[in-house]
Amino acid sequence: MAINESSPHVEGMEEYLNRGIKDVIIEHPTLEAILDDYDIGCGACMVGTCLLKDIVDVHGLPPETERALMGRITKVIYPDTEIDIPEDDGKAQAERIFVYSPPVQVLVDEHKLIKRLIALIPCITKSMDLTTEDGRQLVLEGIDFIKTYADSFHHAKEEDLLFKYFDEDSEIVSAFHEDHRNARDHVKNIVEGVSEQDGARVTKHLGAYKELLQGHIKREDEILYPWMDRNISSEQEAELAASFDEVADKFGNVNERYEAFVQRLEKSFLNNIFPYYR
Ligand SMILES: [Fe+2]
Ligand SMILES: [Fe+2]
Repeated sequence: MAINESSPHVEGMEEYLNRGIKDVIIEHPTLEAILDDYDIGCGACMVGTCLLKDIVDVHGLPPETERALMGRITKVIYPDTEIDIPEDDGKAQAERIFVYSPPVQVLVDEHKLIKRLIALIPCITKSMDLTTEDGRQLVLEGIDFIKTYADSFHHAKEEDLLFKYFDEDSEIVSAFHEDHRNARDHVKNIVEGVSEQDGARVTKHLGAYKELLQGHIKREDEILYPWMDRNISSEQEAELAASFDEVADKFGNVNERYEAFVQRLEKSFLNNIFPYYR
């Protein structure tokens, strides 16, 4: 962690770095805007109890950027201190390009298909008519994608394989587990809503699922995965790739099948062909 060693507040800063981010922001509210400049905030750990140092660490800022951030944080906590803050407002961080290990790239590619389905949710809810068999079937086909592709295939690879290389009790990893659980809860509500023909319930939970997954995927692509990639060895990376291959074998042509479904749905909505899922 890039604490300015010449600062008279090294010990004090270490204490702050070991406190929960929410706590620190409550004490110094202006820190929230500073962290936002670097795309770092409570949003990254969701529960807000992650330690400030872990949140900074997990973002993997370039050293100069991290020094600038730590200087600005120190200045807020100890306003009377003279600190040499390098010029870096985090913009380079916001425009960074991510390069992933081959197995993690597989997960990022799966996100692309999940995002395409999620982008269709407003079209699904707008055209939804749960009083007809075709109307119910449209939602259930979408749910089949979510349950099979997004959850059983993709989330399971994260939970059963990738996350296992890390401390799953850590706030950061457990926050991502929590997202998966919340997503499953929305799915359960959607399925029940369809069988009860409760359009409001289905619309509410489809919308909430979309919001949740969009943020979740962005945090995985930009924060969690790069951090995990920095912390797995090349042996673990090879092991992970082999395990992913086994899962792919087990699921067969799942990528082709669900990509074809999403493509069909996109075309149907674009050309207003009903029923949309056929
Ligand atoms: Fe995930
Ligand atoms: Fe994911």
